[in-house]
Amino acid sequence: MALYALGDLHLSFQADKPMEAFGRVWKHHEKKIEKYVGQTVKPEDTLVLTGDHSWGRKLPECREDLAFIERLPGRKILLRGNHDMFWDVKKTPRLNEEYAGRLFFLQNNFAVYQDYALVGTKGYTFEGPFYLDPWGNLTGWDEEKAARAEKLVAREIARLRYSFEQARAAGYRKFILFLHYPPTNILEETSPFTEIAEEYGASSVVYSHCHGAKRYGDSIRGTFHGIRYLLVSGDYLEFKPALVLP
Ligand SMILES: [Fe+2]
Ligand SMILES: [Fe+2]
Repeated sequence: MALYALGDLHLSFQADKPMEAFGRVWKHHEKKIEKYVGQTVKPEDTLVLTGDHSWGRKLPECREDLAFIERLPGRKILLRGNHDMFWDVKKTPRLNEEYAGRLFFLQNNFAVYQDYALVGTKGYTFEGPFYLDPWGNLTGWDEEKAARAEKLVAREIARLRYSFEQARAAGYRKFILFLHYPPTNILEETSPFTEIAEEYGASSVVYSHCHGAKRYGDSIRGTFHGIRYLLVSGDYLEFKPALVLP
C-alpha cells in the first residue's frame, strides 16, 4: 500500500486546448499519465491529484476528463485547482455523492490513509505583478492585488483549519497537507500555510501549480522546519507520480 501524488493533469478531452503549446513535455501528456500512473500505482494504493484537472468550464464539459481519472488505478482523491471551474466549494458534497466509490473530492473534509488524515484546499499565493528596477531588483508590487490575495489566503486557511479540526475530532494526530498553490510566494520564507502545517504537525506538504523550469523553484522544496515539502506539478515530474508515503 502506498500514497502517491501528482498535480495539474490539465486534461482537455472535451475542450479545444492543445497542450503542446506549453512545451514538449505536454505533447500527448495524457498518454504519459496513463503510462506512468499505470506502471506505478497499484489498485490498493491511493493517488492524490492536486488540482487543475480539466480545462472544461462546467461539469458537463469535464465528464470525459473525470472519467479518464476514474479509469486510472488506485483510489483517487481530487483537490481543487485554480482552473477547476466546475467545482464550486459548495458543490463538494454533491460531487462526492455523485462520484461515491469512484472519486473523492477533498475540500472541507478529510480522507484517511493508514493512520494519517489527508487534508487539503486550493490555497493561494500572491503572484504579482511585481515591479523591478532595470537591474532586476524588486522595487514594489501591486498593493491592491496583494491586499486581495491576503483575503483569499485567510479564507483558505479557515477552510483548512475546519478540515484539520474535523480530522482531529475524529482522533487523527498525523496529517499530510495538500495544496494546489505553492505554500509560499516568491517573496516569502514562511506563510500562513507553512504556519498551519507546523501548528498541526503535518509531516508533509504537497503542492503543484508551478509550471515550467523557471517556476519550479518558486516555493519550498525539501525539508523546512522538519516538514517535507513536495512539488508534484505534472510537467515537473514528467507525469510520474511522486511517492508521499510508502
Ligand atoms: Fe496548472
Ligand atoms: Fe494552477
